[in-house]
Amino acid sequence: MTDAIFARIRAEAERERLPVMRERTALLLQETVEKLRPKRILEIGTCIGISGLTALSSCEGVLTTIEINTDLAERARSNFREAGVSERAEVLEGDCFECLKYMELNRYDLVILDGPKGHYSELLDVLKPMINEKGVLFADDVSFHGKVNSGYTEHKHRTIVRNMEEFLKKLASDRDFSVKIYDFEDGVAVAYKEKK
Ligand SMILES: C[S@@+](CC[C@H](N)C(=O)[O-])C[C@H]1O[C@@H](n2cnc3c(N)ncnc32)[C@H](O)[C@@H]1O
Repeated sequence: MTDAIFARIRAEAERERLPVMRERTALLLQETVEKLRPKRILEIGTCIGISGLTALSSCEGVLTTIEINTDLAERARSNFREAGVSERAEVLEGDCFECLKYMELNRYDLVILDGPKGHYSELLDVLKPMINEKGVLFADDVSFHGKVNSGYTEHKHRTIVRNMEEFLKKLASDRDFSVKIYDFEDGVAVAYKEKK
């Protein structure tokens, strides 16, 4: 997988203002994957595939990634083909809650949560049983532009912010996870599944 492909996809995302994982967060994902060496990865929120490609280029595992937008899902497939990883990447098209219903029995070593920002708390309940013992949940955008845990009261993003606050609280109080929060870029939560 060449740097030129990453550069082209990132430039495209920037030009079109697509909400892809930012560079420092992608580097943290890369480091997490290199340490964990996951065999099976699940991602919620594919967009055009930057975070998926980052994960696949750092390990030999396989990725299942879910995207609700048909055009973005197709572009991600094309990017995975160009990067030579399409045989390790399955892009499921549809609403993540619907897709996850059919995947409940599957287990993953790494789950990348980067989908609908107002639903992280409910998604945690669905995803937790799908994470292997010693697996990791990597959740992006947990500070939601600095609004989470800031006393934000404006109507516009109130539901998202409240749900994200509930997600972080639930994660922190879950004795099956050990959680690290990174406050750079849009905030990242990395939760290691392990008995405390
Ligand atoms: C932040 S972007 C993902 C960026 C991607 N992980 C990356 O870094 O390349 C969030 C994506 O989630 C998708 N999405 C939003 N709601 C969704 C849902 N209910 N089910 C599946 N995907 C959803 C959006 O269309 C968008 O492409």
